[in-house]
Amino acid sequence: MKKILVTGGNGQLGNSLRKVSKDNADYEFVFTDYHHLDITSKEDISNFLEGKDFFAIINCAAYTAVDQAESDIEKARELNSMGPLNLAIESEKRGIGLIHISTDYVFGNTKNTPIHPLDTDTIPNSIYGMTKLEGEENIKHNHSSYIIIRTAWLYCEFGNNFVKSMLRIGNERESLNVVYDQVGSPTYAIDLANVIIRALDILKPMTKEVVHYTNEGVCSWYDFAKKIMEIRGINCVINPIVSQQYSAAAPRPSYSVLDKQPIKDLLLITIPHWEDSLKECLKRIK
Ligand SMILES: NC(=O)c1ccc[n+]([C@@H]2O[C@H](COP(=O)([O-])OP(=O)(O)OC[C@H]3O[C@@H](n4cnc5c(N)ncnc54)[C@H](OP(=O)(O)O)[C@@H]3O)[C@@H](O)[C@H]2O)c1
Repeated sequence: MKKILVTGGNGQLGNSLRKVSKDNADYEFVFTDYHHLDITSKEDISNFLEGKDFFAIINCAAYTAVDQAESDIEKARELNSMGPLNLAIESEKRGIGLIHISTDYVFGNTKNTPIHPLDTDTIPNSIYGMTKLEGEENIKHNHSSYIIIRTAWLYCEFGNNFVKSMLRIGNERESLNVVYDQVGSPTYAIDLANVIIRALDILKPMTKEVVHYTNEGVCSWYDFAKKIMEIRGINCVINPIVSQQYSAAAPRPSYSVLDKQPIKDLLLITIPHWEDSLKECLKRIK
């Protein structure tokens, strides 16, 4: 059985992979978190890989605190840029393929039509986006067999995310302001995890792919929040506001809808609509 190493295994996506991998008989997954394997240490990676016969690494480790990254640039760069570089160098040496997860934030504020993965107009408007873009480039320049999957608006039953925040706040307050001038596509991490496992099947020597995966459909954060309240029958009034009325350290792209046709063609998949996946996820959150 082909052995797969998962880094950042205790995050949202790492835990989602852990869950869906239990039903998979084709691969043997080894999950690591920060304590087992620190991707900012080349030595750690080298020692961990030594003598083990991995087919691929799935990198779920990242610095994902988008606002905090604005004032914690070194840490964000170490994890989002140098981490992927270390993984690329050490896995390339040993002929191990690499699946890396990136973000819609590598595109800044210049778009108003669905963004194709090969669009070179990557102008991030945040430190997080910039360091994630550096991570992508480090992989492209140092590896010969990789799949970079950019995703967006990730949530699931594990960890902290928008859905869980809305449920908590919705039960505490009578009303809540949510921005309606940023649009994108929510992504259930369980759906993404299934797609990543599917991507392992096509990973070969010399595979060089950059693709986009989110759920189908488009909404604003306001619409997303309204739908969460509606499905759960929470009587919290959601008020639409514009980004200027909500102070956040890092700017977000106003339009981050990703073109998913290339991943559909590559993996021969259909993608669930975000509302259907949200309903599935909410069944799993108490
Ligand atoms: N969340 C989103 O909305 C979103 C959107 C677009 C793209 N993405 C991308 O999707 C991927 C998965 O995101 P996620 O939401 O699952 O992230 P997450 O929940 O923040 O998980 C990241 C994991 O990385 C671990 N980690 C931190 N430093 C590490 C190190 N030095 N070595 C190894 N592991 C380390 C973290 O451990 P600790 O918790 O102990 O620090 C955490 O378990 C990331 O690449 C992210 O950039 C996420």
